[in-house]
Amino acid sequence: MGRSGGRKPIYLRPTQPIEKRVDDLLRRMTLEEKIGQMCQYSGFSEAHEALVKQGRVGSLLNVTGAKNTERAQKIAVEQSRLGIPLIFGLDVIHGYSTIFPIPLGLASTWNPETVRKASSIAAAEAASEGIHWTFAPMVDIARDPRWGRIAEGAGEDPYLGSAMAQAAVEGFQGRDLADPDTIVACPKHYVAYGAAEGGRDYNTVDVSERVLREVYLPPFKVAIVKAGAGTTMSAFNELNGVPASANRHSLTEILREEWGFKGFVVSDWNAVGELINHGIAGTSAEAAKEAVNAGVDMDMCGNVYQTSLAQLVRDGAVLEEKIDESVRRILTLKLRLRLFERPYVDPERASKALQTKEKLEAALQAARESMVLLKNEGSLLPVKKDIESVAVIGPLADDRNAPLGSWSCRGNPEDVVTVLEGIKSRASPRTKVLYAKGCESEGNSKEEFENAAETAGEAGLAIVVVGEKADMSGEAACRASLNLPGVQEELVETVHETGVPVVEVLMNGRPLSISWSAEHVPAILEAWFSGIRGGFAIADVIFGDCNPGGKLPITFPRAVGQVPIYYSHKNTGRPPSPERWTSKYLDAPWTPLFPFGHGLSYTQFEYSDLHITLKRRGKAGKVEVSLTVENIGGCQGDEVVQLYLRDLVASIGRPVKELKGFKRITLKPGERRTVSFALAWQDLSFLNREMQWVVEPGTFRVMIGSSSEDIRLSDSFEV
Ligand code: BGC
Repeated sequence: MGRSGGRKPIYLRPTQPIEKRVDDLLRRMTLEEKIGQMCQYSGFSEAHEALVKQGRVGSLLNVTGAKNTERAQKIAVEQSRLGIPLIFGLDVIHGYSTIFPIPLGLASTWNPETVRKASSIAAAEAASEGIHWTFAPMVDIARDPRWGRIAEGAGEDPYLGSAMAQAAVEGFQGRDLADPDTIVACPKHYVAYGAAEGGRDYNTVDVSERVLREVYLPPFKVAIVKAGAGTTMSAFNELNGVPASANRHSLTEILREEWGFKGFVVSDWNAVGELINHGIAGTSAEAAKEAVNAGVDMDMCGNVYQTSLAQLVRDGAVLEEKIDESVRRILTLKLRLRLFERPYVDPERASKALQTKEKLEAALQAARESMVLLKNEGSLLPVKKDIESVAVIGPLADDRNAPLGSWSCRGNPEDVVTVLEGIKSRASPRTKVLYAKGCESEGNSKEEFENAAETAGEAGLAIVVVGEKADMSGEAACRASLNLPGVQEELVETVHETGVPVVEVLMNGRPLSISWSAEHVPAILEAWFSGIRGGFAIADVIFGDCNPGGKLPITFPRAVGQVPIYYSHKNTGRPPSPERWTSKYLDAPWTPLFPFGHGLSYTQFEYSDLHITLKRRGKAGKVEVSLTVENIGGCQGDEVVQLYLRDLVASIGRPVKELKGFKRITLKPGERRTVSFALAWQDLSFLNREMQWVVEPGTFRVMIGSSSEDIRLSDSFEV
């Protein structure tokens, strides 16, 4: 071990600059030790322990709990030759112990501050137990709800997605990674994983360079260049013929040469090994060579770098300088995290960090903000707290697992407040709260329908909680149907037939095609998987303690056959109209069930006084847009003011509208507020036929709305 005897080596001296320490350490390392830093394994088995002692592991993932991280770290630091600490990674996606709404729910808040706070709480909790690095945020733009991983991201739009990506990275990483409450972020999956054909996980992606740069890359660029994410993850999918984990164009030309990324790239789980299945490598050695030369610095769980890289270097197929570059990036991050000075968890902090009152309060607040009121006919909601009786019905009404969603880390079902519990705790003591499960989330049994109908019949209102189980979205959880699974829709119909007014609460990780409900059920609340405090948040919305202000970050189709359906589509040569020979279906409308940006409130907002001022032209140009919003209803509420833009005539067909600004504001009844946006040159720009970012002279239409369809004000300006 290099720590004993004489003066400390430079790499162990905290006062030395990071670069110098890395150089010093690198000089002392054998080729095997260098390659070791580029290897990551899941869990801490005996075999891993032996490798750690030999200095042949850089990182472990899925080792959780202060005791377990500590045990592995001690072996790395005290029993390996150079004592290089491990970096512990984990999928801290929407909370660590205090579980927040899933990312799609957090995106529905349209409030980057909320995302920042949720991420910083998750970071502090995870860090307290020895986690240094999260594989989050997932910033994949996703326009196909069949893809289960849509739950893990911010939806369909690059502008909203970029804002959420930035907030999440800043939340996880804080101001300085040296702060013990921060962890390194890893925006993923680089890149275009969300465009998997047919919405099938791990599937092939073929997108044009223009779509790649205008739709899929922007959130990564913001997360990396603007927010300074320390790492990124190379995706599973093939990208235009070359798998993303062997794609020099995306990993080196764009990421490093164009964007100047200085952090490191970890592959997705065995994505290097899978290059063999992709058919671009015949052996593990070829896979390792392809990946490392393309720019993948760390091999997650493939064991391919471990077994092949040294020989490749000896054979001259991979240059040792290439290995040095990767190792330098990894060590730099370890030093930025102060791992050499602070390898172990602080038991004092660990015991106090989880689920504090303040953190639980933040989870409740985030859940409240994420609620999207899809429909509220006849103002059925909110319900009076002293209502005589309510029936809470449905397979998810008292489910402790669903609200945790996928990737729930150390989230514990025991900590979950179910909808039933939330309703009971928020209703008046006189209110009779009845419950019937009605059916399972999956399967065909309708045995309990009768009981559900009877229960509903005894109450003044039925709250029917339906949707998906937690594991129906997330990784490897794609669906070919977007309907409510099992017999749940029939359960809703059965309860509706009793004549009791129905409030439908949805828990799900993707848009669902709930056309029947949208037509017949008077009130529908999209709650997503809303975390451990979700039950309270849902009850708060139902009883009016919280006026919902969330908006959809993704379009809801009427039927799966409409997919892909997204608001920022092109106009086509024959825009849909009742006329036969136009772009539409014979058997379904062309419009969505609920559009992007949609979400109702218990109050109403009036928009007026749109002003557009062109401040400057050219690259430093600015267009100022302002308007007034007034709460003309009877209660306080949040509105998300949305600014959409259309470049009417350009050398490349432009979308019919693109989100270029949004603000969530809170207004008391009668309160008015001026809302301002500043459009910069890049908001007006696009890639021209020569693939250069340009702003072309002409007319731009500004549309201000309460959703992408509900446009309240519009005007044009000339550039
Ligand atoms: C997923 C990643 C995740 C990794 C580690 C993979 O299967 O695609 O998103 O970060 O596993 O758990």
